[in-house]
Amino acid sequence: MLYLRDLIYHPTACPAPILKSIDLELPPQQLGLIVGPSGSGKSTLLEILSGLVQPTSGTICWREQQLVPEQLNQLAGLVFQFPERHFCCSKILEELRLGHPELGTERVKQALSEVGLDHLSLSTPPHALSGGQQRRLALAVQLIRQPHVLLLDEPTAGLDWSIRQQLVSLLAKLKKDWTLLIVTHDPGEILAFADKCWTIIQGELETIDPTTLEKKIQAPLTAA
Ligand SMILES: Nc1ncnc2c1ncn2[C@@H]1O[C@H](COP(=O)(O)OP(=O)(O)OP(=O)(O)O)[C@@H](O)[C@H]1O
Ligand SMILES: [Mg+2]
Repeated sequence: MLYLRDLIYHPTACPAPILKSIDLELPPQQLGLIVGPSGSGKSTLLEILSGLVQPTSGTICWREQQLVPEQLNQLAGLVFQFPERHFCCSKILEELRLGHPELGTERVKQALSEVGLDHLSLSTPPHALSGGQQRRLALAVQLIRQPHVLLLDEPTAGLDWSIRQQLVSLLAKLKKDWTLLIVTHDPGEILAFADKCWTIIQGELETIDPTTLEKKIQAPLTAA
């Protein structure tokens, strides 16, 4: 279980906190979904959870253990928004092993299999993959490290409708083995697979039932 208690992020240069007393609980093998508009603090929260940014105060616990930033790096696997822009190797194999040269071919194949890319040659350049395949590879790059929590920032942004559906189905499948926390301004089809939902507005996180959130999102369309 991932626990956040009274997590605050208030850089001294900012007049108001960017994250205001965040409390969150996410059980293992569940898909948590945080929905909020641009600038609400979604990416900042994921950066804190992955140890890239130090919070001003508050605690982050995995099971009963409180974690410091160095441990968060191992706890979480962060898939950035548009992760394909961060590929830097000329072969899939190198991309997956980047920073972990000790990982054997078996682990590499297992990670690719989890995201449905095991049919590809390990020497394929990441940049030669289709948009959907690149998103899958970015997931495999994190899964190969076997993080406790997979953090995804706008995982379906910029994808065509059918590719988007395929990626959402993959995320729904992954939650059988992994714990996922997704942040987005546009939950779309992910909502149907969410176990827990929150809204975030100006750094304030609030729990919301997935069905209520779905109705809330559809309301303006229905009224029009
Ligand atoms: N270190 C920092 N110092 C000052 N302001 C910051 C810092 N980090 C983030 N911000 C500000 O915090 C707010 C939240 O940013 P964040 O990128 O987390 O939002 P977001 O919800 O991910 O938005 P988007 O949907 O556009 O990606 C923004 O107003 C941003 O400019
Ligand atoms: Mg963001």
